[in-house]
Amino acid sequence: MALRTDSPLQATVAHRGRLLRFSGDPGTQDEPSAYQYLDDGLLLIADGKVAAVGPAGELLNGVAAGVPLIEHRDALLLPGFIDSHIHYPQTDMIASGGTDLLDWLTHYTFPEERRFADAGAAREVAEFFLDELMRNGTTTAQVLGSVHRASAEAIFAAAEARGLRLIAGKCLMDRNCPDDLRDTAIDGERDTRALIEHWHGRARLHYAITVRFAPTSTNAQLQSAGRMARDYPDTFIHSHLAENLGEVAWVRELFPKSRSYLDVYEHYGLLRERAIYAHCIHLDTTDRERMAATGASCAFSPTSNLYLGSGLFDLAACDAVGMNYALATDVGGGSSFSMLKTMSEAYKVAQLQGQRLTPLRAFYLATLAGARILGLADRIGTLSVGSEADFIVLDLKATPLLERRIARCQSLSEELLVLMTLAPDHAIRETHVLGRPMLSAHGPSLAT
Ligand code: GUN
Ligand code: ZN
Repeated sequence: MALRTDSPLQATVAHRGRLLRFSGDPGTQDEPSAYQYLDDGLLLIADGKVAAVGPAGELLNGVAAGVPLIEHRDALLLPGFIDSHIHYPQTDMIASGGTDLLDWLTHYTFPEERRFADAGAAREVAEFFLDELMRNGTTTAQVLGSVHRASAEAIFAAAEARGLRLIAGKCLMDRNCPDDLRDTAIDGERDTRALIEHWHGRARLHYAITVRFAPTSTNAQLQSAGRMARDYPDTFIHSHLAENLGEVAWVRELFPKSRSYLDVYEHYGLLRERAIYAHCIHLDTTDRERMAATGASCAFSPTSNLYLGSGLFDLAACDAVGMNYALATDVGGGSSFSMLKTMSEAYKVAQLQGQRLTPLRAFYLATLAGARILGLADRIGTLSVGSEADFIVLDLKATPLLERRIARCQSLSEELLVLMTLAPDHAIRETHVLGRPMLSAHGPSLAT
């Protein structure tokens, strides 16, 4: 169907369907000013950006002649999901066991990451990994590479070719790991600076200075990371923090003078805005207050925390001090690429602690919250006019059970809970990056 002719709103394409987007955190009470839900919405795209968004009834008459209109029946349009912490070299060892974090790292993770010394292997996995993000409706991710510079090169090059907004970095790790996965403070800094110079700010890419976690870096390397974070203030800082009790005890032994695990990072100048730490489970109030005060944020990774038995992230304690967090899969410690499954597990983590994660807030944590902690909310995660048109189309009838259960829903909130609980991976019917379909409707083919 073509649109009416007598109006000035220019666009490459118009998408019509139900639409949900956030402008703020709906909190625990579903704050109405934090989101917009349209039963019949219209999203107009021009030059890869959102040209207009609003009720179809109001906008349709104003659209220029000949603009193709795509009708999404029984579907919900959303900003693309944002995964704030994921390891691409762990794609092929997802769903490996292990008794706990340190055992899992030793027996599964480190052996797998050796493969990424080979640029060809890194490129092959990077392509599969990005296909998987597209299949799951994730349009931006913050990605750890392995220690190898080639691993970061491979994921950046693959993301650039697809036009993705993506943050990545090579891991810094110069102790307490296998010899063939070890860099040095000097080599790690040389490679990181070279990668920043080449990739940071190129196309839609950003660099994250990536200390793997405090136990695998010497004081010299932590100092080096802090130096680079100061020299390149608009880069990201990406690491792990207080995931597992054995790990926390180990950090206490390795850094006896530090008040806490978090204090190690603070000492080396690694807390600031765009500093993102995965997990943050075993923190105290002072730690959470320091995170909030410095602008550092947490990547809450529920499937990983449950799979590795690490513990329960305390949402309420973070909210109480204004510490920011967003959702993450943490594949391959995490057991799924799906942000829908991740929301569902986050909901259960809250339930187990007598806390409440509303479905609306879960969708916020998978979209705008990620953009906010990454400092990218002016570009992605809102679908507001002028922002980048990364969005997805969620099929509300993806399975017979989903269709049947959705038909009984009385409210948006109920529908969202049903969706995050029951929607299978293929409920992501389409994934669009800068307005271009990367995962096409009704078929598995991926545009690259
Ligand atoms: N801590 C240090 N490395 C890792 C990793 O690869 N995964 C997780 N979940 N935690 C870590
Ligand atoms: Zn991780």
